[in-house]
Amino acid sequence: MTRRAVVSGGGTGIGRAVTERLAGDGDSVVIVGRRDAVLKATAEEINSAVGAERVTTATADLTDPREVRELVEHIAASGGIDVLVNNAGGNPARASNDLTALAEAYTEAFRLNVITAVLLTEALIPHLIRPGGRIVSVSSIAALRGNGPYGAAKAALHGWAMGLAQQLAPEGVTVNIVAPGFVPATEFWSERLTPQLQAERIAQIPLGRAGTPREVAAGIAHLASPEAGWTTGQILQINGGTLLGRG
Ligand SMILES: NC(=O)c1ccc[n+]([C@@H]2O[C@H](COP(=O)([O-])OP(=O)(O)OC[C@H]3O[C@@H](n4cnc5c(N)ncnc54)[C@H](OP(=O)(O)O)[C@@H]3O)[C@@H](O)[C@H]2O)c1
Repeated sequence: MTRRAVVSGGGTGIGRAVTERLAGDGDSVVIVGRRDAVLKATAEEINSAVGAERVTTATADLTDPREVRELVEHIAASGGIDVLVNNAGGNPARASNDLTALAEAYTEAFRLNVITAVLLTEALIPHLIRPGGRIVSVSSIAALRGNGPYGAAKAALHGWAMGLAQQLAPEGVTVNIVAPGFVPATEFWSERLTPQLQAERIAQIPLGRAGTPREVAAGIAHLASPEAGWTTGQILQINGGTLLGRG
């Protein structure tokens, strides 16, 4: 049976790879982001690759409650949702000792990484299929080893997801986190990755190379699958062993 999925940030990077994977498996996927042209181009390319109109687009800034309300009304008008992937996020903040700049950096990191996921999830919860609904949120290795406002915001997703997992378990809905390590082939890194930074990052990875969006998408697809019905409240690290360190 065709499942319906919503992937935030599905136009680029890891979200795009998740969309390719789910659409390739036969799911119908709504991708959400702020840039309509990016979403439409991705949908067209994936639909042409799978030979069916499985990917549709919806534009919204997920930090804005009004836009999220309208988005979910639009999505729910076509039926229930089986899978929600909260993938939208990023690291816009720069470290600073100035308190005003620091307050802005933390606020922005939480808006981009926490508020986006919380608003979309809370609005979609009434429309999730029960039992069988799946919520997967994309955190980061930064949540586990620290990295200023970005790491703090991603760590907040973990606490939120654990509470949600408990709340929704009696209804047969699972809630999990995927925490990727270094995945350079996305817009996340496009403006700041130097060859030196890339080499430093790879030097920390026991498996000796960067990850790919597709490898992260495979973990997300598993947690989103019907087979993962007894897995909830988990944090799946996909990072080439980075947290272990090199032996
Ligand atoms: N790449 C890595 O190394 C890495 C590592 C660990 C975790 N992550 C996490 O993985 C997730 C995906 O990132 P990525 O690496 O694939 O980078 P990306 O290509 O920059 O993807 C981020 C996506 O989120 C969307 N987005 C951002 N803010 C939004 C908002 N307010 N409303 C709606 N959509 C929004 C963006 O689209 P628009 O700009 O069009 O809105 C974009 O498609 C993020 O949560 C990131 O923190 C990445």
